[in-house]
Amino acid sequence: MVRALYSGSFDPVTLGHLDIIKRAANVFDEVVVAVLNNQAKNPLFSVQERVNMLEETTKDLPNVRITSFQGLLVDFARKENINVIVRGLRAITDFEYELQMAQTNHELLPEVDTMFLTTNILYSYVSSTIVKEVASYQGDVSHFVSEYIEKKIHEKYRSLREQ
Ligand code: PNS
Repeated sequence: MVRALYSGSFDPVTLGHLDIIKRAANVFDEVVVAVLNNQAKNPLFSVQERVNMLEETTKDLPNVRITSFQGLLVDFARKENINVIVRGLRAITDFEYELQMAQTNHELLPEVDTMFLTTNILYSYVSSTIVKEVASYQGDVSHFVSEYIEKKIHEKYRSLREQ
């Protein structure tokens, strides 16, 4: 049984994230998708909202489990008996940070390796930050997120505008 961990902010989950989750689910027995609970990042969506959105987005993938975590990734990985950390690489600009993270995590928890999946070329420029930027101006984000997330993000900005 190989259990993989795919962690991130997922604020919100994009089609790029979903592509990585699906491909990881084809390779590993179980994929634990963990939302980082870190208020310092000033997220648009609460942790519970992000967990709910991921659950809805991955409901057809039986070996994917959604959860959240606080603190160090390696501590969570140890607690969850994780064998592999999965990360998506979009472009060379991701590489330096990802390499540093993978090497740090490996130093802290040598029995767990990080494996990289290269992002589908269709989504290589997509990020949650860009999605939020476009949606905040009521732009069309239908190419970057699922229909369900598109609805949620527009709802969120509408409710923020009405405050
Ligand atoms: O989607 P993101 O924001 O790029 O994900 C980054 C994440 C959540 C994987 C990373 O920030 C993380 O693991 N944070 C937990 C704290 C930690 O373990 N830091 C040391 C890693 S070098």
